Amino acid sequence: MGRFYITTPIYYANDAPHVGSAYTTVNADAMARWHRLVGDETKFLTGTDEHGQKVADAAAKNHMTPQDWTALKSEQFKEAWETLNISFDDFIRTSEPRHYLTVQKFLTAIYENGYIFKDVYKGLYCVSCEDYYAIETSVEGKCPIHARDLIEMEEENWFFRLSAFEERLEQHYAKHPGFVTPETKRNEALSFIKGGLRDISITRTSISWGVPVPWDEAHVFYVWYDALINYLTAIGYGSDHDEVAKWWPSSHHLIGKEISRFHCVWWPAMCMAAGIEPVSHVQVHGWLLLGGQKLGKTMVADGAVKLTDIAPVELTNEFGVDPLRYYLLRETSLGNDGEFSHEGITQRYNTDLANNLGNLVARVATVVASKCGGDGPRPKVDSTLRPHAEVAVSETAAAWNDFSPQRALEATWGLIGATNAYLEERAPWKMESGDLLDAVMGDALEAIRLVAILATPAMPRTCEEIWLRIGLAGTPSDEVFGASTTWGQYAATSPIVKGDPLFPRMKSDA
Ligand code: MSP
Repeated sequence: MGRFYITTPIYYANDAPHVGSAYTTVNADAMARWHRLVGDETKFLTGTDEHGQKVADAAAKNHMTPQDWTALKSEQFKEAWETLNISFDDFIRTSEPRHYLTVQKFLTAIYENGYIFKDVYKGLYCVSCEDYYAIETSVEGKCPIHARDLIEMEEENWFFRLSAFEERLEQHYAKHPGFVTPETKRNEALSFIKGGLRDISITRTSISWGVPVPWDEAHVFYVWYDALINYLTAIGYGSDHDEVAKWWPSSHHLIGKEISRFHCVWWPAMCMAAGIEPVSHVQVHGWLLLGGQKLGKTMVADGAVKLTDIAPVELTNEFGVDPLRYYLLRETSLGNDGEFSHEGITQRYNTDLANNLGNLVARVATVVASKCGGDGPRPKVDSTLRPHAEVAVSETAAAWNDFSPQRALEATWGLIGATNAYLEERAPWKMESGDLLDAVMGDALEAIRLVAILATPAMPRTCEEIWLRIGLAGTPSDEVFGASTTWGQYAATSPIVKGDPLFPRMKSDA
């Protein structure tokens, strides 16, 4: 049994969640569920990033205090995640006292180690990114990501001596080839480091909504500097229930590519400066796009898309929770960008879920209920489906372990396809009751049992439902993976249930 600590970025509490934030969260959830399924001790952290200019502005615009505003917004995130059946173990809010304590302790350690100094900062700032841009990287004075006007800022700030870590970061990357995946993102981060690092301003006096700097109360920490530390707050860094030694060596940050510089360059340097090892792995993913642009709330504000088209709760009302989860995990390989569309979800739904999975479960249940006396027969030891099942189990496991949900689901759906083909060839619906028919149906039921285990991280409720329908007790997650996934164990404890279609077909113009 291993250990697995997975985190999402903490989402800005300036707005409600959208399907882009759901993308990361569903991926992290599926990975957490996979690791729990194989028996790893697992911790899954998500939460909200509540400080900084952007959140303070949103609160003011809504005539609320930042405290009341962020309380409201963090609840909206929790509600959306509950709707999407997200199994987080901890939800952190950066305005919590536990986070203030950790930030102050962590940054005081960096200060005392001599990596923080005072200087004047002048630059162009994007409030949406909460980040500075050099003139060269701005696009006609606008932010390259949000295409919004940049603001000129000049402040006396405390700085972090990032430049002192160039060599150590390079060494870290050389020593830990899997530190950042996929490799393209690792190479990008590494060439950024090799291009030379500038010291970074880490405090602000222009706003008061932030964590106070313990050695200079006129300043609060810059939002990114407090935000990154959330990953340590949740495991009790510096507190009397410190579990850093337990979780940090098996820690994984799942993040979108636009925040990779913070996670792959600044964050490991901050950890080194504070005297701890960096996180063990950063998995970078691409964007959900709409018309080729990063999907997000700015698009709603600009009138490019309706909020209902990208709000996770609306989408689950339209397609169901598990179909949306499936689409987000299956459509695009983690690391690449992918175009998001209602047509795309409808197509995946009709093909993979209604035609392949739903139809398989329905046709097997119908034949068994009408021709096998209702109880599922046992599988054959030497079934021709067995090698397909063995390949599906090993490839699905390897892909989940490799942070590749798309490949994992492809492998699982390979077994669904093989089982449908097996049934097509034998046409049990035309066969008489008897041993021959029982043997075919036993094999198909065994394949369905395995599919229900393998697809659990992606579609937990559907898999529980399938489990019950094929007459098994408990849930697929009760099984000990490995022992439960060897061929031949299907043994029903109750009669097969036909039930309504798992995925009624949708009109393709939905
Ligand atoms: N608060 C910072 C993160 C701090 S982590 C220490 C932040 N928040 S955010 O609300 O802007 O959310 C960022 C994350 O949401 C992205 O990194 C990504 O994981 C996810 N996504 C937001 N829009 C997305 C898409 N259109 N596509 C895929 N993921 C997207 O940055």
